[in-house]
This record gives sequence, structure tokens and C-alpha cells, in this order.
Amino acid sequence: MKLKLIAEDGKEIDAYSDEGYKLVAELWTKVSVQHKLMYEPTWLGIPIIQYPGDVLMMQELIWKLRPEVIVETGFAHGGSAIFYASMLELLGRGKVISVDIEIRQYNRVAVQSHPLSHRIETIEGSSVDPAVVAEVKNRIGDGHKVLVTLDSNHSYEHVLKEMELFAPMVSSNSYLVAIDGAQALVSDIPRGKEEWRDDNPLRAIHEFLERNPEWEVDPYYNRLLVTSNPDGFLRRRPEC
Ligand SMILES: C[S@@+](CC[C@H](N)C(=O)[O-])C[C@H]1O[C@@H](n2cnc3c(N)ncnc32)[C@H](O)[C@@H]1O
Repeated sequence: MKLKLIAEDGKEIDAYSDEGYKLVAELWTKVSVQHKLMYEPTWLGIPIIQYPGDVLMMQELIWKLRPEVIVETGFAHGGSAIFYASMLELLGRGKVISVDIEIRQYNRVAVQSHPLSHRIETIEGSSVDPAVVAEVKNRIGDGHKVLVTLDSNHSYEHVLKEMELFAPMVSSNSYLVAIDGAQALVSDIPRGKEEWRDDNPLRAIHEFLERNPEWEVDPYYNRLLVTSNPDGFLRRRPEC
């Protein structure tokens, strides 16, 4: 069956072509954000606010890297912390340090009573507060292989600040994952906000890369196309 897409300028695009594939992925991202798909999944019983494919990509990265410490900003219900902890449990070592400006009591209790709670430490405070950043560094300690994921406030300014503060914690050849760059794509959906067009993590990522040549995007973890994290998997170059 032929399937044609008609772009805004009237151009016809074959949905099965590479161009069509990319466009359908972009449309799916927009429509699924409109329908709040990322609020649907749970991981081992706890809500995780991620696209299923992004969880799969992160699983691949963690299994390959075998980090000893995973630092995340943005705990929310604790689902991503439990997911990272479950991977570390399979690796037989390591801990998650999760920062959130507000950890609600019922979320804290749910995670504390989870069988993987022994691998999770939380810090309540803003991820750009120097005291919080110092506490994270203190808890990482020395010589560990560290992976950082940023999933808190998704404004351009906040993410750029987080990137500058947390990137130095990432070990050589490890990754800094900046989540929700797709906010840049969804400013024009019915539940989107006009200001997201400029105020988004993707802009912060690109500016961070310009200022910090020791970092590069690893496109491998965007190969499913449908993602909340375009250009979000940043690798510290091995020699740096
Ligand atoms: C998108 S949710 C995190 C989702 C979670 N990582 C997951 O996958 O389930 C964003 C979280 O960031 C937190 N947050 C917002 N501003 C923050 C800040 N300045 N510092 C730390 N956390 C912040 C919010 O309280 C919220 O819980």
C-alpha cells in the first residue's frame, strides 16, 4: 500500500522513504507527547516518566558502560532511580544518587520500601545549588566510573547550568545524558508552550557542545528516532 505524507508546503513525501520515516517519527513524538505517553510506563512497580524506547536505550548504555555510580537530577516518583538501581543490581555493585528539589513523602516511602532501595541515595534540593552539587561530589567519592543523567527542570538556562556543574563528575569515556531535548519539537502541539521553541534542553546541549569540545554526541542512542532525548547522549572523549 502506498502511503504519502503531505508537508505544509504541499510537498508529497513517501512515508516509507528515509525522509518519511524521520517525519513519521517526529509526528509520533508530537502526538504522543500530546497524549502524555511518557507518563504511562512503570518500572518494577514505580512510575517512570520516560518513553519506552528511551528506557531501552539507557539500558543498553548502562550495560555497556557498567558504571559504579549513576547520578540523576529529577527523581519525581522514583521510577528512573529504581530502573538505574535494577541495572546496577544486575551488575552486582554501585549506587544511584538522585537529586530533586522536592521529594514528595509518598514517593519517598514507595522507593524506600522497594527491594532496590539499598542502591538509591536521595538528596533534596535544587540541582544547581552549590551545596547540593558539593554533596553529590562528596557522595561519589574518588575513582569511580560515573554516568550522569539530567532530567529535572527542562529550561534552557537550568539545563545549561546543570551541564556545566555535572559534566566534570563524569568519568572519561562515560556519558552525560541530557533528557527531554524534544521539548524543542513540541512547542506547537495543542498542549505545548510557544516559549519551548527557544527555551529547551536541546538548545542547552548544543551550546554546551560549542563551549566544551571534549564532549560529543553519540547518535547511536538516538537510532530508534522516536525519543525524548535528541542529541542527548553526550560522550566525554576518551582522551579527555
Ligand atoms: C520529568 S521529572 C523527572 C522524571 C524522572 N527522572 C523519571 O524518569 O521518572 C522532573 C523532576 O525534576 C524536579 N525538579 C524541578 N526543578 C528542579 C531543580 N531545580 N533541581 C532538582 N530537581 C528539580 C521536579 O520536582 C520533578 O520531580
